[in-house]
Order: sequence, then structure tokens, then C-alpha cells
Amino acid sequence: QRSLLRLLSCPGTVAADLRREEQFSGSAETGSEDRTPKKRFSEVQEERREQAQRTVLIHCPNKISEKRFLQYLSQHGPVNSHFFYESFGLYAVVEFCQKESVASLQSVTRMPGLGSEAAVPFRSRYFNLKLRNPLNQAAEQSSVHCSHQSSPSSKKLFELLCCAESVDDQLTALLKTFQLTEENTRLRYLTCSLIEDIAAAYFPGCAVRPFGSSVNSFGKLGCDLDMFLALDEIGNFSAQKTSGNFLMEFQVKNVPSERIVTQKILSVIGECLDHFGPGCVGVQKILNARCPLVRFSHQASGFQCDLTTNNRIALKSSELLYLYGALDSRVRALVFSIRCWARAHSLTSSIPGAWITNFSLTMMVIFFLQRRSPPILPTLDSLKSLADAEDKCIIEGHNCTFVHDLNRIKPSENTESLELLLKEFFEYFGNFAFNKNSINIRQGREQNKPESSPLHIQNPFETSLNISKNVSQSQLQKFVELARESAWILHQEDKECRSSNQPWGLATLLLPSVTNNISFVKKRKKPASERIKNLLESIKSSSTENSTDTNGK
Ligand code: GTP
Ligand code: MG
Repeated sequence: QRSLLRLLSCPGTVAADLRREEQFSGSAETGSEDRTPKKRFSEVQEERREQAQRTVLIHCPNKISEKRFLQYLSQHGPVNSHFFYESFGLYAVVEFCQKESVASLQSVTRMPGLGSEAAVPFRSRYFNLKLRNPLNQAAEQSSVHCSHQSSPSSKKLFELLCCAESVDDQLTALLKTFQLTEENTRLRYLTCSLIEDIAAAYFPGCAVRPFGSSVNSFGKLGCDLDMFLALDEIGNFSAQKTSGNFLMEFQVKNVPSERIVTQKILSVIGECLDHFGPGCVGVQKILNARCPLVRFSHQASGFQCDLTTNNRIALKSSELLYLYGALDSRVRALVFSIRCWARAHSLTSSIPGAWITNFSLTMMVIFFLQRRSPPILPTLDSLKSLADAEDKCIIEGHNCTFVHDLNRIKPSENTESLELLLKEFFEYFGNFAFNKNSINIRQGREQNKPESSPLHIQNPFETSLNISKNVSQSQLQKFVELARESAWILHQEDKECRSSNQPWGLATLLLPSVTNNISFVKKRKKPASERIKNLLESIKSSSTENSTDTNGK
């Protein structure tokens, strides 16, 4: 009982702070007054990382007495928080108040005796709980509450969307349903931390950090876990020492290029994960890619992981997206809807190829929001002009400087509704001159395309690169046609009554094929893309004549 008391009196650290933060964030209403007082990206990363280092992952029997489980663990020190989840078995994530508790727990664990098989003696923070006397505890064992780690079925999603009161509510509901939960985020940081333990066997003092949609605030439940191995933090490696007689030979042997260093490091870490990494399966070394990586499945967490190294610019891009996502509550709601829409129509795919990526789609939404009048998001150049000395950042010769303090950025005066923005997004890109213009969030305006790829989206930091170079003409055409059809459907719906038992608004747009949905707006023949464009124009001009604008609802 004493240990339970200790558990309760433990001061909440990160968890409590983050919950408080959630209370602030409110709903995705429009306007500037609801800006979330969010922490800086680097603060969140550091806090989460430290929290993950105090956390363990435990594979439990299917039925367990939660009370006894916590009593047992708190012998090693007070527990700050815990949750259970299912992923081919029951797992618990337990966060201790102090890091020493993890070592204490490790000191009493034993290596499994596997009979004919042999165990590799690697001490991880991923345990397997075997009850000695399951029968003695049977009376107390019960099914524990499990937090969900995956997105809802499409049936549930449609029910949710059809019950909403307005298109704005639909977008907000979609965001709330698909965004990463607090537990899922913790599990992502914990997984990185467990991989870091393995990498640290080769490179003591290294860090494995999550990036991409796990941390940029645009992640959907079930998205992959992008992580990168940071070696430049070891012993202030980047602080160039110019004096002294000793040159440290702690790096890999001299090799002809940075790329080969990256490949060598990933090659050994990949081998290590494959042979010794607890729960790491299906390890693939993809070392000849433009950005070499090791791909694997982390079985216990259920995450598909992509491990890279030497990838600081990608972390910076994640930080930039995080900032844009935090500036105005409409940003995330719109990005989520567009990402879901693109997925529903197979415009994006989990297989690499000629498809548009979620990263490119997010850039398109940011660009569109910079083009509104008044703008909803500032350009990257204006974020750079607000930066101070502390924000200055040059990576591999690229200027990645932008302001990090959200409070220094003036809120937008634009009050357009999500419904209007969704409609206008489709119209904007349904009519965009992709053949001659490039999308550029640094300047927030179209520019002449510097090369002939069908879709050109300038990489915000490596400005000579196109992040959508892979997109084929036919994929771009498909995007344009679907955007026009979706704009047309939303315009048609304006004029019709919404029925609660038929998909409407966002739900119509997410049905697998828009072509099939034309019947919902009482058209039998599939209208050709050009005809939709003309129809849209006629609807628009008549609505301007009749002054029935939906703006500012
Ligand atoms: P998901 O589809 O939800 O995984 O979105 P994501 O943003 O995580 O995208 P992805 O896993 O494909 O890539 C991870 C991160 O790598 C992105 O967030 C970007 O920071 C970066 N990235 C992806 N594609 C490119 C690219 O073409 N160029 C550059 N410079 N960075 C990229
Ligand atoms: Mg990703």
C-alpha cells in the first residue's frame, strides 16, 4: 500500500504539462484568438526523450491484476504513469518518475531459458512478464482498459461524419479521430529510445530522434515512424576544435564521401537490429536510395520504422511543419482532411512510386493558406526575417533559419471557415498552372518552374531541389481531376438539403470513387474534368451576381 501511495503522490511532470496543453488547444474554430500556447519544438523533443528514457515496455499475460502489477513495479520506485495496449498480445508502457528505477528493475530480471534455442544476452528495457503463480492471482485478474493505437474503421468514420452538424464540424471530427493520441506519441518516443539503446552499443552518446509525421503534428494514427540516428551530438562533435596536439580518431575510418559513411553506419546498425534488436523484424537495408535507410517492423509497438542518419534537414522540415501547424488551428484540420481525401482516392500510397506524398500535400496546403487574402500563414522568408541570433541555423551550407518562438508571429486576421477553405483548396489546385508554375512556400507565390517535372514544389531548405520530382504527369492529372470534381460536389451540395442517412460534405468526398458519388448530387453521367471546370465557373459567377457568398460563415 505504501508503494501505491508513493505512486499517487508522485509529481506529474511531462504528462501533466502535456494534458494542460491539450486543455488549452480547444477546438478548431476559426480566427486568431484561439491560438494554442504551444511549446517550442525543441522543448517538446527534449521532454519527450527524457520521459522515454524513464519508461519501460512490458509484454504481459492477457489477463492481469493491474493493482498487483503496479504494486510490484513500484518496488523499484514511484511510477508516474502507465497504459496498456494490444498488439498481438497485451503490452504495458510504464513511466517511472526516476531513471534509476529502470536499472533497478533490470537488475532483477532474468534471461529466458528457451530450451533448444539460445538467447542473446542484450539487456533491453523491453520485458516479458511471466506470472509465477497465475492461479493464486486468478481472482484479481481481469481485462484491463486498453488504449487504441489504430484509426477507426471507415464505417465508424462515415457514421461520425454524417452525424456532424456542418462541414466545419466534419473536418474537426476527422482531425480528432485520426490525430496521434497522447499514448501513441509516447509509444513512438519510447520505440526510438529502445532503438537508441541498441545503436549506443556502437556509438555511445548517440541519439535516435523521431521526425516526420510522428512529430510534425500532422501524423495520423498508423503512420510510419521515421527516426534518425544523430551522431553529431556526441561530445560536441560539431564544435570544431582548432588547437591542441591530439586529433581524436573516434570516427569511422576515412572513406571517400559522407554518403559512404552514412551507408557504413546504417549497414552495421541494420545488422545489429536484425541479429540482436528485441522485437525488430523484417529488417531491410535500403542503402542505395537517395537518402539511405534501414526499414524494419518493431513488433511490440506495431510501428513500421524507417531509420536514417545524417538527416538534420529533415528534422528541420519537421520543426517547420510543427510551427505552421501550431500557428492557426485551421491548418491541421485542413491538412488531415486533404491527406485522408488523397488516401481514399489512392493519390497517395505506402509504396514508393510516382504518387504525390503526404509531405508534398502538406506543402500544397501551406502554400494555399499563404495565398489567402488576408493570408492565414506567413511565408518562410517572413519567418526568417523574425528570427534572432539564437534561431540561426545553417546545415550543410543551407540556410535553415526561421523564428522558433510562436509568440513573435502576428496572428492572422483571416476568419474564413474550414468549409470555404476546403472548397477553395480544390478549386485553387483544380485550376493551378502546374505546367508553368512552381509551388514555393519560402516566398508564398508561384514562380516559373526551373525544370520540366510535371509537379514542382520547391524544397524549403535545399531550394534547388524539387520535393515532388517523382510525381508523373498522369498522377498529377488524376489529382487535378479529383480536385475539380470535389470542388464541384461541394458547390452542388450548397444548393441541396443535407440528409442524415446519406453521405454529405466531407463524407461524400472520402468515398472511394468520386465518380460513383455523382449520383448523390443527382447526376448520372460522369462529367468530364473540363466540363466540371466550366460548371464551377458558371456556379461561381452566378453566386457572385446573386451575392450569395459563403465567405466568413
Ligand atoms: P507520412 O506519410 O504520414 O509518413 O508523412 P511524413 O511527413 O512522415 O512523410 P515521410 O515518411 O515520407 O517522410 C518523412 C520526412 O522526411 C518528411 O516529413 C520530410 O521532413 C522528409 N521528406 C520526405 N520526403 C522528402 C523529400 O522528397 N524531400 C525532402 N527534402 N524531404 C523529404
Ligand atoms: Mg513518415
